[in-house]
Amino acid sequence: MQVKIIDHPLIQHKLSLVRDVKTGTKEFRELLEEISTLMAFELTRNLPLEETQVETPLTTCTCKMLSGKKIAIVPILRAGLGMVNGIVKLIPAAKVGHIGVYRDHETLKPVEYFCKLPTDVAERELIVVDPMLATGGSAVAAIEMLKAKGAKQIKLMCLVAAPEGVAVMNAHHPDVEVYVAAVDSHLNERGYIVPGLGDAGDRIFGTK
Ligand code: PRP
Ligand code: URA
Repeated sequence: MQVKIIDHPLIQHKLSLVRDVKTGTKEFRELLEEISTLMAFELTRNLPLEETQVETPLTTCTCKMLSGKKIAIVPILRAGLGMVNGIVKLIPAAKVGHIGVYRDHETLKPVEYFCKLPTDVAERELIVVDPMLATGGSAVAAIEMLKAKGAKQIKLMCLVAAPEGVAVMNAHHPDVEVYVAAVDSHLNERGYIVPGLGDAGDRIFGTK
């Protein structure tokens, strides 16, 4: 199964605070950003390095620097926006594309409404971000949109997943590695992740 649970203690601690119904919008946003930074640290573990000569105050040495692999972060609107800044802090030169998909509350099916991507999307490694992977419909649709534009290297980073969403992602996009902080128990009859954290978009933006 292509899911990697990032179980770093700092992430798990902050995730528990995010889940808490008493956590308000300001703290929720801050925690989501912090967790995104910590998760991005793990996602970028295999970025290629190249050797370069650096002059220290004492001598010249051969050091390693990133080889300049092109990266783009692609939040799934709206809730994915809450994860962008935390990653941009680590990768300030990353481009940011946007995909608009919302889940119809009645059918739970994804509805696509926006797509704006870097023109060289085919050459970039894409990190698609969305806090919630529930039925998996939104992520599958977003990644289909990316592949239709030529994207080849895609990773998906979510905060909380349901087993159902992981299975659907695996069935539709087995080439996409999925990184999460937790895989929860199940989906309830309204398609919410249990225990989950509620509606991520509403909690980030303070709307209902
Ligand atoms: C939430 C969440 C995911 C989607 C997950 O977004 O941010 O995009 O639901 O559900 P799924 O896996 O069953 O598709 P929502 O549709 O509520 O839109 P929002 O981000 O605008 O709040
Ligand atoms: N979308 C959310 O924001 N939360 C869930 O639990 C499921 C879908």
